[in-house]
Amino acid sequence: MKKIKKQNYVDLFYKEQPKLCDPKDFWGQVKRSVDGKPISNSQIIMIENAVDKGLKLSKSDKVLDIGCGNGALSALFFKKINKLVGVDFSEYLIGVAKENFEMKPDYTFHLADAYEFIVNYEHKEHITKVLCYGTFAYFDFQVAKKMLRFLNESYKNVSRVYIGNLPNKDKAENFYYKDIDYTEQIDDAESPIGIWRSEDEMKELAADCGWGINFHKMPKTFQGSHYRYDVILKRKL
Ligand SMILES: C[S@@+](CC[C@H](N)C(=O)[O-])C[C@H]1O[C@@H](n2cnc3c(N)ncnc32)[C@H](O)[C@@H]1O
Repeated sequence: MKKIKKQNYVDLFYKEQPKLCDPKDFWGQVKRSVDGKPISNSQIIMIENAVDKGLKLSKSDKVLDIGCGNGALSALFFKKINKLVGVDFSEYLIGVAKENFEMKPDYTFHLADAYEFIVNYEHKEHITKVLCYGTFAYFDFQVAKKMLRFLNESYKNVSRVYIGNLPNKDKAENFYYKDIDYTEQIDDAESPIGIWRSEDEMKELAADCGWGINFHKMPKTFQGSHYRYDVILKRKL
């Protein structure tokens, strides 16, 4: 069985490799590509629709986008909402976001570690919805729990959190080649895909942090739908 080399793939993928992409290859920079080519617009529309519906976005919403990358996905929602605050720890990607998508003062992007930003953000009560697309798997077990609990306890006006593109532990064999030993990978936040969680594990995590939970499956034609799923956390009344 082959093992995948242990290293910090998150830093490599999102802090270093985006510098090698074309400055306007926004999807390539966040690894939203197939065989090195950017994914089709129909794939992006599927994400946009799923998030819009899952968060029930409206013109009064102020959205916190955790792990916003270069802001290309965040910007798709600007017209539907009142404000967006994006945070990411990749200096390069936040630079791209500021240069191409930022519209001060309502749509802004910030360079910081996600958890530190969430704790220190001064206008917690303004935020009504949270988006975390393609990023949650890169938070280790402790940080993921602290983050969801903190959002529940300190962001009292947040009614929904969309956690998109989670790798499903029960479907890992649909992703890895048969001769790859992925046992160490699936619990490693720094591995290429991050931490794989089953729906039951997400249910337990949500309950532990005070959230109700719904699951969303993307259409079969969506890239990665055979091993990924989305989660919508809802504030319990
Ligand atoms: C797959 S990209 C998704 C970007 C964007 N949400 C999208 O869907 O286009 C994952 C992002 O998570 C960010 N990230 C991972 N760990 C982070 C952390 N601890 N704090 C802030 N950003 C983080 C990476 O820099 C990267 O931009």
